[in-house]
Amino acid sequence: MYLLELAGQDDRFAIAEAATAASDVTPIAAGLATARGLGDGFETLAFAHRASDLLGTTGATVDSAVALLDAATLDRAGSVAVRARDVRGTTDVDTQAAERALGQVLVDRGFTVDLDDPDHVLQALFSNTDDASAADPGENGVAALGWLTVETDRAFADRQPTDRPFFQPGSMSPQLARALVNLAGAEPKTTILDPMCGTGGILLEAGRVGATPIGGDAQTKMVRGTRQNLRELLDGDWHVYRGDASHIPIADDSVDGVVFDAPYGRQSKIEGDLEDLVADALAEARRVASQAVVVGDRSWAETAEESGWVVDATFERRVHRSLTRYIAVVR
Ligand SMILES: C[S@@+](CC[C@H](N)C(=O)[O-])C[C@H]1O[C@@H](n2cnc3c(N)ncnc32)[C@H](O)[C@@H]1O
Repeated sequence: MYLLELAGQDDRFAIAEAATAASDVTPIAAGLATARGLGDGFETLAFAHRASDLLGTTGATVDSAVALLDAATLDRAGSVAVRARDVRGTTDVDTQAAERALGQVLVDRGFTVDLDDPDHVLQALFSNTDDASAADPGENGVAALGWLTVETDRAFADRQPTDRPFFQPGSMSPQLARALVNLAGAEPKTTILDPMCGTGGILLEAGRVGATPIGGDAQTKMVRGTRQNLRELLDGDWHVYRGDASHIPIADDSVDGVVFDAPYGRQSKIEGDLEDLVADALAEARRVASQAVVVGDRSWAETAEESGWVVDATFERRVHRSLTRYIAVVR
């Protein structure tokens, strides 16, 4: 069993993404989940920080965590470090005291402590559930202990859309783009299509997880800009064409997943009716792939159903006061 430390504030979204690279992902407290198995893709997740080999869970106090570790079977040897976290600041646990007390348990069991380059890192994660209706939220708290197994690659956090050779306002964050391509099935040896690629942010993340990205956009400026971004920022194969998302120039069933961020209602560049465009793009997506993720400033879930897709999950992500992004994952 694994312990997952989720990222962001929306656990339901993080768990949906994590489920693309882990099995039986189950929430246990704010920002924490367990999983039965881990796949190779875990490292590429945008909304997870780490996975650990779960030792056990108990109440969210240092004493309970110490008792749990005392009683645990520790099937490893070498040097250790303890990293304690108050996940999202939901508990009032003193994490330094937790690290000292848990470290002492490990020393008593014969381990040496090496804070700089330990053979094993013990994660001690303290969190309360988000259930505000609980009479005493502290009672619902969890302390979870586990040996660190894998950390996700956070490099995308340093790569802002504004740093790319071609940038336009409204570009999606690399973290969200990464999650969307994961939800659409991106992994090595897959092909991911964004038929409304804009500045190419979704294509970049598809490429970075090892998929071959294919992008299209109706505007020559976007096609040129995306090509420039991919040329300078991505190793490996990619293809970008100019074309209309309602007539995708690709053979039936020839890509593994489609992701697109539909134009927003307030954008003026859209010729024709936005509803018709998205409906047509969804129908075309269904012709070329068996899974898709559609994003917009309104929910396109109903339109997706009308195009024959089955809606797997929907999410809302508030960007700022006047923009909420609606996400539908469809099969
Ligand atoms: C919301 S933007 C995509 C933004 C992109 N995710 C990014 O981060 O840069 C929507 C894109 O759809 C394109 N578009 C509009 N109508 C289109 C159509 N009929 N076919 C293909 N692309 C279209 C626009 O040119 C625009 O680049």
